[in-house]
Amino acid sequence: MDKFVITGGTALAGEISASGSKNSALPALAAALLTEEPVALHRIPRVRDIRTMQRLLVDIGSKVEVEGDRVRLETPRVMCPEAPYELVKTMRASSLVLGPLVARCGRARVSLPGGCAIGARPINLHIFGLEQLGARINQAHGYIEAEAPEGLRGAVVHFDRITVTGTEDLMMAAVLAKGETVLRNAAREPEVADLADLLVKMGAKIDGAGSSTIRIQGVERLRGTEHTIIPDRIEAGTFLVAGAITGGDLTVTGCNPDHVGALVSKLQQTGADVTQPDATSVRVRGGGRLRSVDMTTEEYPGFATDLQAQYMALMTQVEGIAIIVETIFENRFMHAQELARMGANIRLDGKQAIVAGPRALTGAGVIASDLRASASLVLAALVARGETVIDRVYHIDRGYERIEAKLARVGAKIRRVE
Ligand code: EPZ
Repeated sequence: MDKFVITGGTALAGEISASGSKNSALPALAAALLTEEPVALHRIPRVRDIRTMQRLLVDIGSKVEVEGDRVRLETPRVMCPEAPYELVKTMRASSLVLGPLVARCGRARVSLPGGCAIGARPINLHIFGLEQLGARINQAHGYIEAEAPEGLRGAVVHFDRITVTGTEDLMMAAVLAKGETVLRNAAREPEVADLADLLVKMGAKIDGAGSSTIRIQGVERLRGTEHTIIPDRIEAGTFLVAGAITGGDLTVTGCNPDHVGALVSKLQQTGADVTQPDATSVRVRGGGRLRSVDMTTEEYPGFATDLQAQYMALMTQVEGIAIIVETIFENRFMHAQELARMGANIRLDGKQAIVAGPRALTGAGVIASDLRASASLVLAALVARGETVIDRVYHIDRGYERIEAKLARVGAKIRRVE
């Protein structure tokens, strides 16, 4: 298992570029199942979860050609409308093939995702939505079997809880359904809007994506197209925190500043100097004493849960007490114990983490537990005195493209050990 060896103490300076969004690329890849014509996607990040999704699509029957960050998919026929347990257990986003498969060929057999480090993360709302659209669902042997031999029909689906991939799954199911589908209390994440942009290019009729009510008029068939994925706002946000926590002067390029608005606002409240040099860059200068600011995670456009762990690392380094409330997942503080091993002063109390700073961190051996927790350990290691060894960095490789190369280029002392 690969490890990262990081020696803390350098202020990051220079430019660091954002890759395409993993969480936009995953539904976009699944959307290619909705047509027998070729779909070309650009700016696909080369990360583990994307390779897993590509493998799944090949098993289903897609031809997948990868050339750098460009992926061309063609699914003339669905050979096997299945997402097997051995793949789904490594990546729960495999459930994103559920909607497209039922829409394309009237049936799907997808493994229930099972548990996850950060929470139960059921997909009951994906299933509920498909039933509303007329699919017959049977759950047995750890699998969901969905059938709609006569096709799906439009319906109103009201999500009692906001779900990002639930919204995406149902949007992809509805585009080929007969009649109109209305998704209420839909997720407003940029990745949902990006998926809608792709589907509309394929011939779908969608209004309201990016808002909490999405209307979809079903069409007979979709055609192939080309599409460039939006930048990864969580990767960009992670780098902005890296600039702040190291007291550096870091410009994140190739990003969409609007998509990191809540984080930028929060960093400015701590006293960091954050500016926007141009339409696709954000610059952070962290020098000077920053102060603690409370934070509560919320669905977009609030503060992203995927940036909570990174923000917690920053709060260990600033003056005061910060109360961090995690409202989206029930167990997303595993990074706190690892940060504490490095010297952080964090007390957990249910959904709250109380972080007292500043605390000098010292390098230690730590273990990554999930994708974003691992990113938080990297950030802490960048400011810790001495050497930190982070084990199980395959968690990081799931969602960050060559993070050690990108960080090293702006001054971080980080190397990967096979
Ligand atoms: C997406 O996961 C992201 N993944 C996650 O990013 C992100 O943390 C999450 O949205 C929240 O923003 C992808 O887009 C591939 P949800 P998703 O459905 O869609 C509950 C990362 O680090 N829920 O919005 O699975 C669920 O348990 C990953 O890149 C139900 O109860 O999240 C959670 O508490 C981690 N029933 C809450 O809703 C359902 O049917 C939000 O989950 C669906 C969800």
